[in-house]
Amino acid sequence: MLASKRILLIIGGGIAAYKSLDLIRRLQEHGAQVTPVLTRAAEEFVTPLSVSALAGQKAYRDLFDLTDEAEMGHIQLSRSADLIVVAPATADMMGKMAAGLANDLASTLLMATDTPVLCAPAMNVRMWDHPATQRNLKQLQQDGIRFVGPNEGDMACGEYGAGRMSEPLEIVAAVEAHLADGPLKGKRILVTSGPTHEPIDPVRYIANRSSGAQGTAVARALAALGADVVFVTGPADVPPPQGVQVVQVETAQQMSDAVDAALPVNAGVFAAAVADWKVATASDRKLKKSRDGLPSLEFAENPDILKRVSQMGAGRPDLVVGFAAETDDVIDNATAKRARKGCDWIVANDVSPATGIMGGSENAVVLISDQGAESWPRMGKDMVAARLAQKIADALAG
Ligand code: C5P
Repeated sequence: MLASKRILLIIGGGIAAYKSLDLIRRLQEHGAQVTPVLTRAAEEFVTPLSVSALAGQKAYRDLFDLTDEAEMGHIQLSRSADLIVVAPATADMMGKMAAGLANDLASTLLMATDTPVLCAPAMNVRMWDHPATQRNLKQLQQDGIRFVGPNEGDMACGEYGAGRMSEPLEIVAAVEAHLADGPLKGKRILVTSGPTHEPIDPVRYIANRSSGAQGTAVARALAALGADVVFVTGPADVPPPQGVQVVQVETAQQMSDAVDAALPVNAGVFAAAVADWKVATASDRKLKKSRDGLPSLEFAENPDILKRVSQMGAGRPDLVVGFAAETDDVIDNATAKRARKGCDWIVANDVSPATGIMGGSENAVVLISDQGAESWPRMGKDMVAARLAQKIADALAG
């Protein structure tokens, strides 16, 4: 529920603005108060009258409206909410936010605020895929802006792909996750997840069978307890959770850089199946079959992210949790790994093919800590995640 939560809803100028009318209703049904702001372009898609009628309050439109300044200045307006939601966040709006421009009411509010911001992007698939938008997305994620969506599907412009604004109820779920009260409220937690892809050439890569299911479940469970989660994920099979800050990477080196950018955090959970090796000299041209025989690949070691973070002095998270995927002698190997890496806990599991754990929906883990080994019964990955999140909450509180 969002009882008594105040949402400042900035409606950008895109066709998805019609969904923002429904979003106002859904947020209100969940108990939130919605103060709407329209950009000039948004008024081409929805009228201020319908927006203010649904919100039950004035729709703010103009930076230089002196009545507004007398009633509530733009600085105060920007800080009066528990959360700012930008829906739809157009390519133009994301560009302005990333560049720090403030030339209308919406962009000025976003610059002046110290309130968390959640964006629901909506645009044509080419605009979403454009390097400029992707660059802006990365920048905004690094600035701490949260994202929900976009989804993939048919678009109003007749094309198909990523760029559809999330449905109003998905946005409400992301708002709820963000505003969730719980034992981890105010704690910033990093989660790595999924496999990494190490390029051989522009079309081939080395990967592993990690689906990202367990890491995703852990991130979702931590967010449900109120944590501010930074989710650094390789190319996973499952979609990232709602309401967390998602940073998408491909290689181990990119994951390592994204982890550095996310620090400092109160806790780090390293659930990613990071490739131990990369191809030392990945080719920038596709390798050809040749008469010279088979190509030989030379490997180089990837950074060990868990080890580095565990062994950093100043700035080390209070709690560092590693994962260990083992196929034999699980407890002995995981105990040795905990010591070698220097992390606080290791969540160890047996991934031998017979268990069906890798890529499956269940997990049977042993938690290794300085207290020894604690075996948990086989249960759904969501249950493992919930139990781990609660243990992390207890440890950070203690
Ligand atoms: O050494 P091993 O790969 O078995 O260790 C697994 C743990 O270490 C996992 O928590 C994984 O996320 C982390 N790891 C890492 N960077 C690497 C290799 C593993 O963070 N290069």
